[in-house]
Amino acid sequence: MNNLALRSLALAIAAAGSWSALPAFADGELVVYCNVQEEWCRPMVNAFEKASGIKVLMTRKSSGETYAQIKAEAANPRGDIWWGGTGDPHLQAAEEGLTEVYKSPKLAELQPWAVHIAETAKYRMVGIYSGALGYSYNTADLAKRKLGEPKCWADLIKPEFKGEVQVANPNSSGTSYTMLATLVQIMGEEKAFDYMKALHKNVNQYTKSGAAPARAVATGESLIGITFQHDAVTQVVGGAPVKVVSPCEGTGYEIGGMSIIKGAKNLENAKKWYDWALTPEAQGIAVGAKAYQVPSNKSAPTPPQAPKLGEIKLINYDFAKYGSSAERTRLLARWDKEVGALPK
Ligand code: F6P
Repeated sequence: MNNLALRSLALAIAAAGSWSALPAFADGELVVYCNVQEEWCRPMVNAFEKASGIKVLMTRKSSGETYAQIKAEAANPRGDIWWGGTGDPHLQAAEEGLTEVYKSPKLAELQPWAVHIAETAKYRMVGIYSGALGYSYNTADLAKRKLGEPKCWADLIKPEFKGEVQVANPNSSGTSYTMLATLVQIMGEEKAFDYMKALHKNVNQYTKSGAAPARAVATGESLIGITFQHDAVTQVVGGAPVKVVSPCEGTGYEIGGMSIIKGAKNLENAKKWYDWALTPEAQGIAVGAKAYQVPSNKSAPTPPQAPKLGEIKLINYDFAKYGSSAERTRLLARWDKEVGALPK
């Protein structure tokens, strides 16, 4: 029986007032764990429901939180597909066997970086977008306080920015873990931890979500926010007095991921979402949602406002190393002990 027939049957039974006779709806549903902004998750869900007739149950969380949830639910998985979020926790989940191997027929349409990360994960994830890390500041506030423009990572630990910097917690947030791994790759591990301890003095709040500091900068709640540059661009497009900075020393970037959860109860529907989410049409939904990542399908439109990755001094981010289970676990434990535990 196809979905439409099943739905008609459900309606008929409901009309007759005997829901107890209804067969399980498992093949008409999909549980999506979404890690981008709610403003993008929603139109994705609506468009997929319309295209497929499949009912989607979606929850939005941050990347590290979703990884932890999938791990906690491994004995009885509740989610089917993990869409969005930084690549590192997707890679960790892949290595730990928390996600399914799937080779989409759409792989041939993707940018090399999206396929390369799929190969790194032995096809347990795929790249869906990319974006560079950076920070933003509130230009009106900076001018009012007559402070010099920050241009480098080194500027963010200056005493004049005490209590003025917001960034997420790297345990919950993939953005913040990208920062941690980026600093380690730029400075070396010891210097990077010294830097993060110094930065701690200037941090006003470690948020749960990676993009929250960009909103705090736009409203003037924080002078500076460390986020992916595309999240700050969303605020600029919204009319906020915000400047986006690519740090002078160079910066890291993410490859946003998608994975099918191991033991997914709606596996066939998860594959349908997976293939659909790699099409230019589905990836094009980002533009209307004011999401300014670079899409992975070669034919998907890249919004003109998206930061130009070719013009940013990007490091050669080592996804295999920093997305490995041992390295991510070790670095987060070190951050908790040496940075997160410091008094404020
Ligand atoms: O807001 C979108 C976004 O920056 C994505 O590009 C990224 O993958 C995700 O959020 C990371 O979110 P978090 O840091 O909360 O895990």
